[in-house]
Order: sequence, then structure tokens, then C-alpha cells
Amino acid sequence: MSKRFYLTTAIDYTNGQPHLGHAYEKILTDVIARAHRSLGEAVFFLTGLDEHGQKVQQAALDSSRKPQDYCDDLAATWKAFAQTLNLSNDDFVRTSEPRHKAVVQTVLTQLHAAGHFYKAQYSGFYSLKEETFLTDKDRRPDGSFDPGYGEVVQLVEDNYYFKLKAWQSWLIEYLEAHPDFIQPSQRRNEVLGLLNHNELEDLCITRPLARLNWGIPLPFDEHFVTYVWFDALVNYVSVPAAQGDPTVLAALKSESQNPNTGIELWPANIHVIGKDILKFHAVYWPIMLKAMGLPLPQQILAHGWWHKDGQKMSKSTGNVVDPVAIIKDWGVDAFRYYVVRELDIGPDGNWTDAGFQARYNAELANGLGNLVNRSLSMLKRYRQGIVPPCSTELGEEVNRAIERVRSHFRASRLQPALLDIWSIVNRANQYVDQTAPFKLAKDPGKAARLGEVLYNLAETCRVLAVLLWPFIPDTADKIFAQLGLTESPDKLNTAAWGGLPAGHQIGEPAALFPKKETAKT
Ligand code: MSP
Repeated sequence: MSKRFYLTTAIDYTNGQPHLGHAYEKILTDVIARAHRSLGEAVFFLTGLDEHGQKVQQAALDSSRKPQDYCDDLAATWKAFAQTLNLSNDDFVRTSEPRHKAVVQTVLTQLHAAGHFYKAQYSGFYSLKEETFLTDKDRRPDGSFDPGYGEVVQLVEDNYYFKLKAWQSWLIEYLEAHPDFIQPSQRRNEVLGLLNHNELEDLCITRPLARLNWGIPLPFDEHFVTYVWFDALVNYVSVPAAQGDPTVLAALKSESQNPNTGIELWPANIHVIGKDILKFHAVYWPIMLKAMGLPLPQQILAHGWWHKDGQKMSKSTGNVVDPVAIIKDWGVDAFRYYVVRELDIGPDGNWTDAGFQARYNAELANGLGNLVNRSLSMLKRYRQGIVPPCSTELGEEVNRAIERVRSHFRASRLQPALLDIWSIVNRANQYVDQTAPFKLAKDPGKAARLGEVLYNLAETCRVLAVLLWPFIPDTADKIFAQLGLTESPDKLNTAAWGGLPAGHQIGEPAALFPKKETAKT
């Protein structure tokens, strides 16, 4: 078996409801996963939940629930959310699952035996909210800590530490030698800047049981549980281990439960994450993997953050976007399209209801929807829905756009791919206006010309469905159904011009994106 293209999202804390930020990351990852499937690759897409730690323990306590029961209920909500977003994930990990806990404990045991940890006393500041130790370097000029850290307390406690410091120069050299490892490049520069100008601290990898019991017990000292990040990051290899990945199993010195079904996954091709958790993925995780003797993932792809109406989204002020409500009103593809089209992978973005609705009406209803509807309705009306002989008038232009989209798919350039796809939508709508098939239809002498125009339009709709499948799969399926095609639009190599056979009978045209009243601004 050959290695699959393996990509992951961050795993979300199980302490509340999903919002736009979580949805965005999952949709980006899903589009990349589907783009690679469309390119003909075997893909494995993993998402899931980060269930341990103080935040979750506290949230469970606040609702008077046991942490496991609390997480079980929320896990059902989050799994349903993945379906609402139409994700094509191949697995869904929960860090409270035995398959994950066992791998975390094996990793801890091995790293401990190999001398990567030491025990020491810590005396200093601790942010309860961020579950992190703070030093004087984290203070603001007036001596206070950033309010983002929440309550900061003074602590004196024993803990285990991972010797991170020792790997600093190795990591810098690795990043220098692998320019694509952290993308976009602005994020790579940030990490290199951090490493070149600061000395890394060793990483505290435990919390005393007395303070936190909702975590994975440390296998070599019963008084401690594992620090939530050391636990969470390991999900990226615990699932491959459970799937029988030979590279991970060899590093863990474990055997597959079923050697015949081993799926080759590691190293991951892309970890998709938000910019706020870059340090954990671009500094701690590579060093953990190096210590485990595992190859590093090919890429950490860090996206920006969404704001709403120019403000940080916040549960406490009610300034949040509820993706489930938007999807209920506007459809999942409108939501998927908007988040990818509006915000390129990298910068921060701003959600406004008016902006969403404007793109819906202009680009989906009037742009794509109108093109498909009028193209297929005219084919129905003027030719009883029977595809005329092949014509290549738009073929070259469309084929060139297909090649650009192909290279965007390979490089996770999603917004640029949509721009190229919309260049076809706009060109074809312009073609309708220029050729005016409704006028040609009135002149029997122009029947051949009308046939050419109708072929170009119908074939453009077919190509668009294939190109759009990774982004808006339901719509792509609907376009194929309206074209009377029974196969799936999920293979990019079927996009090339000329695939629609002459004499083929199309199906029934129907509006893809009904035009809606927009919000008053
Ligand atoms: N549990 C950790 C990740 C562990 S990965 C081994 C965590 N969870 S989280 O629920 O807080 O965030 C999950 C993902 O959602 C992160 O990648 C984060 O950047 C992303 N987002 C959370 N809010 C966001 C926005 N407002 N906008 C875009 N993405 C945001 O961190």
C-alpha cells in the first residue's frame, strides 16, 4: 500500500459550542482534502476533540457534570457539526479514547526511559485560563499580565520537564533548510524570529494530580497527569498508530492489531491550525517528534482569525457567528464558499452579515447560479435538452483555467483557485450576453450557431462542477444531476474540455442559489 496524503485540523477544546473560527479551519482542511482526492490521491483527513485539561474540567464543573459525561454530550454536538459542514473526514479522534491514551502513555514512558525528562521545582506565576507558566518576560511595562491570561496565581510545585532547550539550534537549522515547513512565510519568519532572539525554556509536561485530575495519568509517577498540550499534539500520531501506520508503530515499538490493514499515514502532509497555536506546532511538536525518532510533518499551515463586525468574537459579549444558524438559512455550500472566498489562508478576516449576503447574491445567485440555470434552461427550450455537437469556442480558455486550478490545488491556494474558477463563470455569463442565444433561436438560419453556443455553455457548466467539487460538493453534484450525468464530479482529470457527449439528454434545470433579500445596512 502507498502512503496517503494525511492532513489534520487542530482538535477543539470540548468546553463550548462550535463557532465560525472552528468551522473555517475545518472547511479549509476539507477543501484541501477533497482537492487532493480530486487530483487522484488517496487521502486521510483527521479532525477531533481535545478533551482534557483545566478548561474542560472547569466547564464540566460549572455545569455540575462529570468531565467524561460532559465531554460525551458535547462530542455528539461536535460530530454532528462536522456533518453539518459536510466534512469528508476519515476519522474523528477524542483524546479521552483508550486508543489515544495508550499512545500518549507509551510516548511518555519511552521518552522518560531515554532521559528526555527531569523533575524540578517551579516557583513563579501561572495563568489558570491558559494553563501556562509565566515569567517576568510576560509582564507588560506596567508590571501587570495581559488580561488574556485571566487570573494569574503564584505557585510553588514539583513537575516534570521536557528538555526542549537542547534542541533549539537543531530546530533553527531545520527551519532554515525547509522553507515550506511553516506557511505562509510570514508565520515562518515569526517562528524564526522567536527562536533566533530568545532562549527556549524547557517545557513543563505535567500538572500535579492535586490540582488537575482530568488528564492522562503519567505512567511513571502517579502523582501527576500529562499537560494538555503534550497529550493533544500526540493525536496526530495516535490515530495513525490505531490505523496500523508502520512508521509510527515502529517508533513506538508496538505492533499493529491487524498487520494486514495498516494504512500508511505518517509523516503528515499538512497540519492546518490557527495562528494562535503556532508555537505549539512549530516549536514543541517538531522537538517532540525528533525525540520520538519520528520524521517531521511536511507542513504547518497557519490561518488567520475571524472577527465579527470588526471586534474579536467573544461568547461573553454575544459577538459570535453561529455557523449552524447561517447554514440553516443559506445552505452549507453558501457558507463554505463564503469563508474560503472571503479570507485567504494567512491574514485575519472580518465577518459581516451584509458582506456574506452580498457575495451570496452577486457571486452565487447572479454569477454561478444564473449561468447554470440559463444555460441549461435554454438547452432544454431550444434543443429539448439534447446536447449539440462538440464546439471548442471557450475550450482553450477553460482548459488554461483548469491547469491554473490544478496547480492551486497542489499548493493549497484555495482563494486563488476560486478566483480562477470565477473567471470562467464571468466569462461564460459574458458569452451569453455577447452571443445572445435567445436572438439566435428566433432565426432558423442561425441554428448551427445556436448549437455551438449551447454546447459551450453546457460544457462550461460541467467543467465548473468538477472544479467546484472540493469547495461546494453538494452544488457540484446538483449541477451534474441537472446535466443528467450519473457519475460524480470528484475527479479533476475529467474536467478537460469536451467531456459532454453530443446527443446526451440532460436533466431538469433548477435554481442552485435562490436569490434572497439582503439585510439592510
Ligand atoms: N485544543 C487546542 C488545539 C490542540 S491541537 C493539537 C485549541 N483548541 S481551540 O478550540 O481553542 O481552537 C481550535 C482551532 O480553532 C485553533 O486552530 C484556533 O486557531 C481556531 N480558532 C479559534 N477561534 C478562531 C477564530 N476566531 N478564527 C479562526 N480560527 C480560530 O487551541
